[in-house]
Formats: sequence, structure tokens, C-alpha cells
Amino acid sequence: MRIDIITVVPQLIQGFLEESILGRAQKKGLVDIHLHNLRDYAVRKDRRVDDYPFGGFAGMVMQCEPIDRCISALTAQRHYDQIIFTTPDGEQFDQPMANELSLCENIIILCGHYKGIDYRIREHLITKEVSIGDYVLTGGELAAAVMTDAIVRIIPGVIGDEQSALSDSFQDNLLAAPVYTRPADYKGWKVPEILLSGHQAKIKEWELQQSLQRTKTLRPDLLE
Ligand code: ADE
Repeated sequence: MRIDIITVVPQLIQGFLEESILGRAQKKGLVDIHLHNLRDYAVRKDRRVDDYPFGGFAGMVMQCEPIDRCISALTAQRHYDQIIFTTPDGEQFDQPMANELSLCENIIILCGHYKGIDYRIREHLITKEVSIGDYVLTGGELAAAVMTDAIVRIIPGVIGDEQSALSDSFQDNLLAAPVYTRPADYKGWKVPEILLSGHQAKIKEWELQQSLQRTKTLRPDLLE
């Protein structure tokens, strides 16, 4: 899978992509992530890519041309399954959307900034608008990082134990069961007996009951 991220502040995401599981996934060749600085496609000498909005509204708006030039340069080289724009008024990002996007061959994520982008880009080039929650960030970079992380970690081979991605919270609309590690008794805080029994069928049953109970208590909406 290939992910192209377009942003005016690539340095905000760069370090995040190079570390830990995402960094290893790229080194292993399981995903190919490219950052593009939108300023490299600026039409103005000062490399600015924003301008005042028509109508006298407040704030600055990202111009059509640099975005169009950048996206066109990418789509001239390969087909993209989705051209995504990160925006608080987009479709809510969730686990099913992450699963679906992880099956794509190539995607572009365009990070919004300032007051927004010229709406014509959204009308003519963007195929999917995505929000990571009902709050407004200073830019779409964190949203792009969140989405990339959630998408990449479920690509087969990225997480060592494939089973563990499948038992995440939200897969099957259930929150994950609690997990424990050694020591079995820490300051009198004990690990549930069943987990030490070695009885796999009973442990599986316990895990499911815990998942159901936690979902019922913490996120009853998921069971509806
Ligand atoms: N840009 C600013 N806020 C955002 C949000 N909540 N989701 C996605 N992109 C954003």
C-alpha cells in the first residue's frame, strides 16, 4: 500500500512516521508513505499557498492551484483509490473506515490548514472528506497521522502477532478485554485466576464476557 500525504508542515508528521511500528512497516516494505510539501507547488515566489477569502470573511484560504498541481503530479503517475481531505466537517473516522482504507492500493491524504481550502478542490478533486472527531484542530496533520497509524497497523504483517490487531477494541464493535502480565500478584493486586488456569476454552469465554461487560458499561451505543 502507498500513502501520499500533502501538507504545508511536513515536519509535523515526519518524526511520527519514522518511529516504532510505522517506521518498521516502511522498512519491511509493507507500506510506502510519502510526504509532500505543498509549498513546493506554490505559484508565488514567496512560497505562500494561501490567500484572502472572497466575500471579506475572516482568515486565510488555501488556494486551488498549488493543491491541484500537487495532486495532478501524483495522479499522473498512478491511480488513487481515494483522495482524502481531513476536515472537521467530514465523515467520522472509525475502525470500519480504517479497515476499508487499509485494503486500498494507493491513497492521498490532503491536510487542511488555515480557514480551509478553496471549496472547488473539494468539489472537483476530493473523493472522501474525513474528520477524526467533533473538535477543531489547528491543521489536518494530526488527523492524517491518526488515520495513517490506524490504517497501517492492520496491514497483515505490520503487527507481529496478527491475532492482536483482530482482537483490538472496536473490531466486532466490542471493546477489548483487560490484559495482564507478570507478576501475577503485585502488592496484593491479583491477576484473575482464570488467566493462570491454562484452560484455553474457559479463557476465551472469559475474554468474551469481559468484552461484552465493558462494552455494555462504557459504550452501550456500540451494541445497538
Ligand atoms: N482539521 C481540523 N480539525 C480536524 C478534525 N477534527 N478532523 C480532521 N481534520 C481536521
